[in-house]
Amino acid sequence: MMWDGLYASAFEKINERIGNTGRVLLAYNTNIDAIKYLNSGDLKDRIEKAGKEEVLRYSNELPEKIRSVQQLLGSILWSVKRGKAAELFVESCPVRFYMKRWGWNELRMGGQVGIMANLLGGVYGVPVIAHVPQISRLQAGLFKDGSIYVPKIENGQLRLVHPKEFNADEESCIHFIYEFSRGFRVFDFKAPRENRFIGSADDYTTTLFIRDEFRKSFEEIARSVNLAIVSGLQALTKDNYREPFETIRGHLEVLNDRNVPAHLEFAFTPDETVRKAILDLLGNFWSVGLNEVELASIMEAIGEKCLAEKLLTNDPVDPVAVTEAMLKLAEKTGVRRIHFHTYGYYLALTDYKGEFVRDALLFAALAAAAKAKLGDVRSIDDIAKAMDVPVNEKAKPVEEALAREYGMEKGLAEVDGYQLAFVPTKIVEKPKSTVGIGDTISSSAFVGEFALKNG
Ligand code: AMP
Ligand code: GLC
Repeated sequence: MMWDGLYASAFEKINERIGNTGRVLLAYNTNIDAIKYLNSGDLKDRIEKAGKEEVLRYSNELPEKIRSVQQLLGSILWSVKRGKAAELFVESCPVRFYMKRWGWNELRMGGQVGIMANLLGGVYGVPVIAHVPQISRLQAGLFKDGSIYVPKIENGQLRLVHPKEFNADEESCIHFIYEFSRGFRVFDFKAPRENRFIGSADDYTTTLFIRDEFRKSFEEIARSVNLAIVSGLQALTKDNYREPFETIRGHLEVLNDRNVPAHLEFAFTPDETVRKAILDLLGNFWSVGLNEVELASIMEAIGEKCLAEKLLTNDPVDPVAVTEAMLKLAEKTGVRRIHFHTYGYYLALTDYKGEFVRDALLFAALAAAAKAKLGDVRSIDDIAKAMDVPVNEKAKPVEEALAREYGMEKGLAEVDGYQLAFVPTKIVEKPKSTVGIGDTISSSAFVGEFALKNG
């Protein structure tokens, strides 16, 4: 099989070179994920106790934020019913207490920055400087050993220390992740796909709090890195986004002055004003990573409603519609690389050419399969073993459509002066959990690409 050969050689090349990528800056959101695997009987009892009728109201339409237990349970049902991920801010302290007492099965590193820091620094051996809004003992303990650093100011001097050596006792930012498997049933609802609902019980990552160490020493930090990945803009609202956006714009100017390519991980951003503000900022990034729901939400924001709908109708998502949407986004913003991922395949549109773009996507798909299978990638060996997961058969018609439309061969084509790279991914039948797979994909592909380019 052609793809098996391409997978094996991409893994070998990147595994050899990834340690030489240089330092990566990761900003801004790190938190703790308290993962609860939902149990149908337990959820049913809780819904009945809270008042079924009111809970069901929220399963039809998500509230803006969570202020009551009924809203929490209804929002979980909203996700189950559709098999879609959603995340809401939990404003009420009693609801936060309810979630805490409900409990969790596992505490895990969370937030794009935290997840990427453990993967890049703890598994790939790529040194990272991470922004951690609050460093509680619990949060620090979730960082893997390895070259993971946070800035610390001592006697007016900037030092880089491992989070465990930061020795602070700050707050714990906990996000409660309610995971369900495909076919999970409660009342008449049945989940068409595995996924999760997230209740974010923290006031730091949700408002994009930026630490003083980063504000004051950003130029010095930026001088010491080769790449940057930015995330965590998704929970902002039209009422609070202006100030953090100004800071981020400033940070991007510093990075661009020093020719540090920056990637934006575009998580689902419910507030349309914020989504438009992100679009205005996108030209300052080298690269952006997103899934079908996120790409559709951008198309909607730029008035391409028809295209947005097309992106959400087929499974697997129509790759020609995706390519059209990516071309529109590239033309409108000037961003140089767009990495699209969906269940079953990835595409990358770049204004530069080379097999290394596709090979980095293949490496990312292996990392994603390892993450889906195990919940946490512990070593590069876990990624090598993911080679055994079969290549997704449903991606075959996608590949054929791309060959017909753009003359794609071996996952590469030229479209309107851009390169389009495609890979069919490996799908794990019964994933351990779903949270953090997108972050694993985007960071592996972005860093893997530079490892090949510079190596
Ligand atoms: P996101 O929606 O951004 O969190 O990213 C989820 C991505 O993870 C999807 O687009 C898929 O590419 C990938 N994914 C989800 N489930 C699996 C699975 N069971 N096996 C492999 N990859 C998966
Ligand atoms: C969001 C959530 C965080 C989760 C992450 C995974 O940032 O807030 O809890 O770990 O997504 O991608």
